[in-house]
Amino acid sequence: MLGMATTQAQNEQLTQIGPGTFMGNLLRRYWQPVAVALELDENPVKAIRVLGEDLTLYRDHSGNYGLIGQRCVHRGVSMDRGIPEVCGLRCPYHGWVYDATGQCTEQPFEDTVNPEARYKDRIKIKGYPIQELGGMLWAYLGQLPAPLLPRWDLLVEPDLDRAAEIYPLPCNWLQCMDNSVDPVHFEWLHGYFGNYELAKDGQPPAMSVAKHVKIAFDVFRFGIMKRRLLAEEDPATSDDWTTGHPLIFPLMLAQGSKGAASFQFRLPVDDTHTIQTFYRTKKRAPGDVPKPFTMTYHDLFENEKYVPGDKIPNQDFIAWVSQGPISDRVNEHLTQIDTGVILYHKLLIESARKVEEGLDPMGIIRNADENEPWVVIPRENHALSAFRINREAEARSFDPPEGELAAR
Ligand code: FES
Ligand SMILES: [Fe+2]
Repeated sequence: MLGMATTQAQNEQLTQIGPGTFMGNLLRRYWQPVAVALELDENPVKAIRVLGEDLTLYRDHSGNYGLIGQRCVHRGVSMDRGIPEVCGLRCPYHGWVYDATGQCTEQPFEDTVNPEARYKDRIKIKGYPIQELGGMLWAYLGQLPAPLLPRWDLLVEPDLDRAAEIYPLPCNWLQCMDNSVDPVHFEWLHGYFGNYELAKDGQPPAMSVAKHVKIAFDVFRFGIMKRRLLAEEDPATSDDWTTGHPLIFPLMLAQGSKGAASFQFRLPVDDTHTIQTFYRTKKRAPGDVPKPFTMTYHDLFENEKYVPGDKIPNQDFIAWVSQGPISDRVNEHLTQIDTGVILYHKLLIESARKVEEGLDPMGIIRNADENEPWVVIPRENHALSAFRINREAEARSFDPPEGELAAR
């Protein structure tokens, strides 16, 4: 494994997700979290880009969601300026209406002067299935019949308050996902680098992360369990080692304890842009009043802004984005630390081959019994156990060499 790298052709095969590509065909077999439902409260029509496709997301007056092609095919006006109707979305230019399947259902002038021709019956644009679950809108862009929308536990469990934090990132989706099977980055990126960034601001270290002594990865029904053992941890009792936490194949990560568990969703916008969503939940205590779903939006990298590495999410984003729009894997040197990354790429390729053979890829749910009342995802029991968040004196302190503080 030492020094393993990828060819340019393999890297392109792994990262490109436009229509008709090897990986694009695979990712289209999974429901994608394309928006937060409450985004449509303010404006019920929204332009979105998913898997390299420009689309229009809307909610009509019946409360139904639609995800249709970007343009009206009469004369090409953008449907993101469309008008929601009782059923479907009306083009602002001459009033053609499209329903959620993309079928044209009204052409007001033609319907008046030439109704028997029913030309509208021959007009159809893209229309993808879309469903709301857990406050997110999930779309399916693949071959029909669509599998079941997975009822992942945190989306469905009662007595949870939920919030979404959205971060658009100027990099390929695979860089974000590779990070989810890379336990050791945590010791360095979140421990050492994080403390270094804080020291530059005159702040005390945030973490003392013990040394990783073992890492392991187990493939399970829905993805890969990532496990770590840190120095001085007991392998019999540390649930970072006995359980770990999962990459839910192909584009999610699950983390944390029962009381404050979270998902991370990675939505491939196109080959060089990804939307990272932190989907956070908090268990309500008996008698607590439910809190409404909230959403925040953070465009950290807008206009190539400098992003400070003082917070854990920023540290990850800096690592992913600084690899470049598409990481140059030809010049990588993979070692034992990258065991999880290599396994994940292998599963992606195996699953994409299954799709080519007409089979379902990994993790697809078609049996309602498996999906009800929700799908339990195994994960470690205590939040951020390995982070060892410690603002006390014993935290590993970073003592920057002379001049480094000024060099920022
Ligand atoms: S361009 Fe849409 S109705 Fe004419
Ligand atoms: Fe991380």
